Amino acid sequence: KKAHIGVTGLAVMGANLARNFAHHGYTVALHNRSEGKTTALMEEHGSEGDFIPTETMEELVDSLEKPRRVLIMVKAGAPVDSVIEQLTPLLDEGDIIIDGGNSYFQDTRRRERECAEKGLHFVGVGVSGGEEGALNGPSIMPGGSEESYKSLGPMLEDISAKADDGTPCCAWIGTDGAGHFVKMVHNGIEYADMQVIGEAHELLRSVAGLEPAEQADVFEEWNATELSSYLIEITAQVLRQVDSRTGKPFIDVVADAAGQKGTGRWTVQEALELGSPVTAIAESVFARALSSSEPVMRKEAQEVLPAGIGDTTEDVVKDPGFVEDVRKALYASKLVSYAQGLDMLTMAGREYGWQLDLATIASLWRNGCIIRAELLNVIMAAYQGDKAPLNLLFAPEFITSIEDALPSWRRVVARAVERGIPAPVFSSALAYYDALRRPRLNAALTQGLRDYFGAHTYKRIDDPDSSFHVLWSGDRSEVVS
Ligand code: 6PG
Repeated sequence: KKAHIGVTGLAVMGANLARNFAHHGYTVALHNRSEGKTTALMEEHGSEGDFIPTETMEELVDSLEKPRRVLIMVKAGAPVDSVIEQLTPLLDEGDIIIDGGNSYFQDTRRRERECAEKGLHFVGVGVSGGEEGALNGPSIMPGGSEESYKSLGPMLEDISAKADDGTPCCAWIGTDGAGHFVKMVHNGIEYADMQVIGEAHELLRSVAGLEPAEQADVFEEWNATELSSYLIEITAQVLRQVDSRTGKPFIDVVADAAGQKGTGRWTVQEALELGSPVTAIAESVFARALSSSEPVMRKEAQEVLPAGIGDTTEDVVKDPGFVEDVRKALYASKLVSYAQGLDMLTMAGREYGWQLDLATIASLWRNGCIIRAELLNVIMAAYQGDKAPLNLLFAPEFITSIEDALPSWRRVVARAVERGIPAPVFSSALAYYDALRRPRLNAALTQGLRDYFGAHTYKRIDDPDSSFHVLWSGDRSEVVS
């Protein structure tokens, strides 16, 4: 009996995806560089389905039906290239190599090109949902050729999460690196989602004086509003947790230095390349960087830098209206970060020749992934039909919710600034919103200055087709450049 799919790399994500395939009736060949993991998986879970344990790449490849499908689940970067190098000589034309790790999309584009030259399909697949999702149904974002999706797609759809309406949270995203690109932006949005939750948490504590357990109640209540989402739900659980060693709230014994593995940073690097203003994601990445870099500098800053805050502003705000203000500020900032992330996808689609469908992407983020949320149903609906908004914020339902949130949002940002509490995404998202709707931006002065010191020229609003320059060091007359 031949296996439907092989999995190489049996750390927890690989092992869980292998088990997920087996639970859906597929025969799964298993391989790991060191055999121990294969043996352990067989011992602990071998009875859950049909597995074929193998010891070498040759054995793995021989155990597969054709066209062969091999899922690589190793650490992103050089290890992926090394596995591809071992695999390719053993495979035949039409076989499919799948990379389910968090690979950098430019690597995926290169690998796809290299494999295509050998007649092989290479499919970069974004997988979200952590360990639990991998086992019970992740959100899956496959790139690669449309042809490879015909053979691979149904299997991936089987093991994926399903939205409430039963739709699989898996659909073909676009050619070459499109799947990994969309997963990368998903992670960027995940960073922003977590940062806005963090900002709300900090304001609830420092301004409203709510202890973590009281905040857990607040987040639970919020989870029954339009904020309903996995991350809000688990925020309540993390805030309710009590440290067994000290009896303190768990959150108070955790070091305030956030880690990151790279996908958020890649999103921002790529956004800079594309000229896409994903300010909420960028602020979230920088907030993590600031928290974790230079502990010595942070310590000295606490000692030497003045706050410039009068005493009266230190009072706790007992007004329940403030809690509601924070909720609305969180929601509006979240909408901006989604609008920015989706706009970045549109720009990338143009740059890389992908026909990205935002309704489909929102659809498969509805369940299984870390950013799963009620909101994604609304976002999906906004992009369905033929009147897709140019910017998510222009969808009529979001115009209404932002209009409702704006007074709260402005009050919260003002209060944070007044009290010296950093709320970088709340405030930069508001700045983006205000910039977008402003008839004139300060960019005209930037152009004037650039023309002055570097003769970089400028456009006129009343004569837009030509470029102009002022003879700044001469008689200051304007010339067409
Ligand atoms: C997911 C997660 C997953 C992983 C991130 C965490 O969608 O399942 O995003 O991919 O948890 O890599 O990223 P950081 O370590 O950068 O926070």
